[in-house]
Formats: sequence, C-alpha cells, structure tokens
Amino acid sequence: MDKKKMIGLLQADLEKEYRAFNFYLQCSITVRGYRRGYLKGWLKGQADEELGHATAIAEKISSLGGVATSKIPEVTGLKNAVAILKQALEYETDVVTRFKQRAQQADELGDLQLKLLLEEQAAESQGEAEELRKLLEEA
Ligand SMILES: [Fe+2]
Ligand SMILES: [Fe+2]
Repeated sequence: MDKKKMIGLLQADLEKEYRAFNFYLQCSITVRGYRRGYLKGWLKGQADEELGHATAIAEKISSLGGVATSKIPEVTGLKNAVAILKQALEYETDVVTRFKQRAQQADELGDLQLKLLLEEQAAESQGEAEELRKLLEEA
C-alpha cells in the first residue's frame, strides 16, 4: 500500500459518501405515506452526517496530496419507506465492510489518523445498520 493507491481508493469511497448524502437528502423530500412525518427529519439528519463523512474523507485526500473529487452521483428518490430503509441498510453495511478493510490498509500505510477516521465511520455505520434492521422488523 502506498499513498497514491490509497488516494485512489479514498476517491471511490468519497464518491459513495456523496451518493449516500444525495440519496438521504433526496428521499427526505420524496418519502410518502404515514411514516413521512418521522422519516423526513431522520433522513435529513442522515444526509447531514454523510456530508460530514464526505468532508472528512475529502480533507484526508487533500492531506495525502490528492485533489478530492467533487462528483456527486445521481440517485433516484424513493417514495416507499420500506424501500428507502432497505437501500439505506445496503449502503450502511457496504460501508462497514469497505471501511474495515480500508482501515487495515491505512494501518499498513502507517497512517493512524486515517485508520481511526475509517474505524469511526465503520462503527457509526454498523450502529446505523443495527437500527435499520430493527426498523425493518415490523415491515
Ligand atoms: Fe457515511
Ligand atoms: Fe451513514
């Protein structure tokens, strides 16, 4: 693992954080049904969190000498609450797997700050995934 390779991996991770941000924000607007009252605020909060994750990763790419991507992937806002939660669960579990591996790679690189940043985001996503599974149980 070298810095250049890590920058490339983080660029892809950053794009996925922007995608999650865009998905949560869009769904906070498109969600319909009686769960909307609760979900729109929750989704907006998730969008804010994802933007925070993206910003931290972008700053790290910059610290490593790269130029962080500004590309925010297109997403489709969903109306159905269950479909939204299922997609969110998929995103969050993907983050857990990917960032656990990335934290190991950061360790190989000897970058403790990056390792901890990734572990923190992986742990946060694991908590989100646990909560999402509970929310989906009654669905
Ligand atoms: Fe995130
Ligand atoms: Fe998240």
